[in-house]
Amino acid sequence: MVVKGRNAFLHCHFLRTFCDVIRKRFIPKNVVMESRNSSHSKGGIMIQKWIIPTVAVLMLVSGLLPAQSQDSIEAENQRYVEAVLKQIAGNENKPAEEVFRNIKTLKGTPAGRLLRVMNFGYSRSLGVSCNHCHVPGEWDRDDKPPKKVTRDMAAMVDKINSELLADIDHLRTKNPVINCTTCHRGQQQPALSLPPR
Ligand code: HEC
Ligand code: HEC
Repeated sequence: MVVKGRNAFLHCHFLRTFCDVIRKRFIPKNVVMESRNSSHSKGGIMIQKWIIPTVAVLMLVSGLLPAQSQDSIEAENQRYVEAVLKQIAGNENKPAEEVFRNIKTLKGTPAGRLLRVMNFGYSRSLGVSCNHCHVPGEWDRDDKPPKKVTRDMAAMVDKINSELLADIDHLRTKNPVINCTTCHRGQQQPALSLPPR
């Protein structure tokens, strides 16, 4: 960082500290800060001095925007489900593997029910949109890690229900079951402790 660059920074005023953090963390050492009218740069990438405060303001503002609400996530998911239902109209009761392209876990589940599993069993349990696990519209693709995790989670749930839980005597319920909500409760990361009072 050349001396000129340091001076350019003094123009950041009240954003100076924030700018400084950004400069230290994100701007490589060979970047030279120049003001708008200067045309030379001595061996280093030249960037205009107004760029840093602008980026700082954008970062601050985007941090203040509320995250997408659960309601709008659920409305979005509903729209995706309706779009897929339209595509498979007439085939809702056929086994999912005959209607969709890449079914490994939910074989035998009717196609229409698979979409309810997607919407309520998976998305709502985790508090996520379909696009957490999918590239919307390209539902058969497997490239998002949470989709892969989900197949393993489903196998885990199955094992707990059919082997581990089924082996516990003296329970109140005859056929107790767990599902995704039992642990996730609307969150991606299950809790290890109760929320503070
Ligand atoms: C937590 C992860 C997760 C979420 C969220 C999720 N899905 Fe899925 N989805 C999966 C998994 C895993 C499969 C594959 C199931 C299998 O192998 O039987 C799948 C398969 C599908 C398929 C079948 C695609 C094909 O051709 O094989 C469709 C359609 C689909 N999902 C739609 C949706 C929609 C619509 C939503 C939102 C309402 C959604 N999914 C939300 C994990 C997810
Ligand atoms: C017995 C408790 C339990 C159950 C039941 C359970 N999970 Fe999980 N799940 C976890 C834990 C623990 C993690 C790891 C969180 C972490 O990364 O620290 C996790 C992580 C995940 C993740 C990765 C986080 C992410 O969003 O990238 C996905 C996806 C997921 N679970 C989906 C599911 C689905 C779908 C079901 C139901 C088929 C399910 N889980 C059932 C405990 C559970």
